[in-house]
Amino acid sequence: MIKVDTRHLSRFVGGDELKQISHLTKAAHKSLLDGDGAGNDFLGWKDLPVNYDKDEFARIKKAADKIKSDSQVLFVIGIGGSYLGARAVIEALKSTLYNNLKKSTPEIYFVGNGIDADYLNEVISLADGKDFSVNIISKSGTTTEPAVAFRVFRELAEKKYGAYAKSRIYATTDKKRGTLKELADSEGWETFVVPDDIGGRFSVLTAVGLLPIAAAGVDIEQLIKGAADERNDLLETDPLKNNVLIYAALRNIFFNKGFKNELLVTYKNSFVQFGEWYKQLFGESEGKDGKGIFPVTATFSTDLHSLGQFIQDGAPIIFETVLKFDAPLNDYYLKKLPPEQDGDGLNFLSEQNLSVVTEKAFLGTIIAHTDGGTPNIVISAPKPDAYTLGALIYFFEKACAVSGYLLGVNPFDQPGVESYKKNMFALLGKKGYEDIRQKLEAQIN
Ligand code: PA5
Repeated sequence: MIKVDTRHLSRFVGGDELKQISHLTKAAHKSLLDGDGAGNDFLGWKDLPVNYDKDEFARIKKAADKIKSDSQVLFVIGIGGSYLGARAVIEALKSTLYNNLKKSTPEIYFVGNGIDADYLNEVISLADGKDFSVNIISKSGTTTEPAVAFRVFRELAEKKYGAYAKSRIYATTDKKRGTLKELADSEGWETFVVPDDIGGRFSVLTAVGLLPIAAAGVDIEQLIKGAADERNDLLETDPLKNNVLIYAALRNIFFNKGFKNELLVTYKNSFVQFGEWYKQLFGESEGKDGKGIFPVTATFSTDLHSLGQFIQDGAPIIFETVLKFDAPLNDYYLKKLPPEQDGDGLNFLSEQNLSVVTEKAFLGTIIAHTDGGTPNIVISAPKPDAYTLGALIYFFEKACAVSGYLLGVNPFDQPGVESYKKNMFALLGKKGYEDIRQKLEAQIN
């Protein structure tokens, strides 16, 4: 369903280049399919769309229905892979203005994804006078940012609902271990599982993403179906026929030609958060061992008026990947005005849908940017509904895994993130981190 269009690449990639590395792409794909590559204990996402826990899926839908019926607000607490996917899907399918639009589903606020006192206070104020529920999501159960926010929102819930608070707190965490799991079991909160073999950034189609997504009124069956159908499409083993392998190979080719930054472009405001999800997925997966393509994002045409100059004319360090949809969810028809009202001279654009204007902007931009020396890969997808979004999620997850293997890294670990967490614990004086603290303090003083 998701297609890679290489038509605009002829001046950057020679006719044979994809073929020349196809043995490497094939080997990377085989490793992934056979499960014998680096990080192979984190491949649970691969078959998840066809092999998920149906009982838990039913519980997710039930919990989401309860939240929809008893809460005006849902606070989703998590950081990194424990919130980016849900936020991306909700905004992509329900609008970036979701919380402001008229709807029958709760407002959803993400908190615990940073350490900003002002933001925390602002979100706390949104609970005022409203019925709310809380979904705390943390695989480890110990990450500082969500843990701090959860302490606050748990207290708010307990103050407001007393003993009934426990029926409004949902914990998504490890199946058996960790502080959060222990707390949830002792307090009687409903729990959902972050599977052992799925890392945070690959977890959007588990309960991590599905509970908030379902609470926003998204059809999660369609989301999973899109991912399952895409998974099938991407089992093709010919590297020149499988769209995900073509994309992964092109990324590798551009990296080796010195284009060390990938700019993921969409023409959709609602995909800004999808871009944040993509940045984590590729950044955490590839950026290690001194290697990696730096993932950045832009929303066109907005950012053509800020970054456009650099992309067109600046240092040749960027290749663009344009994610293009066949149609918007709802088009907008531009009317023709009588000649006497055409003072703004815009009648030349009228009597057509706004998506036609978008299409011309897309074509004009690709020609300008490729003329300027910036390669453009185009990924095309049908209209951005739940089914397509499921497919896109799977496409990018698989692209990331194959790209990581092509690059020669383990795409499933994140030693860099762990270092910062450890240092922060030590500097804050957490028990067990005394030795590291001493070393760090010697470094900073
Ligand atoms: O992808 C990752 O592993 C990280 O971004 C984690 O998702 C993030 O650090 C949150 O971790 P946890 O879910 O354990 O709180």
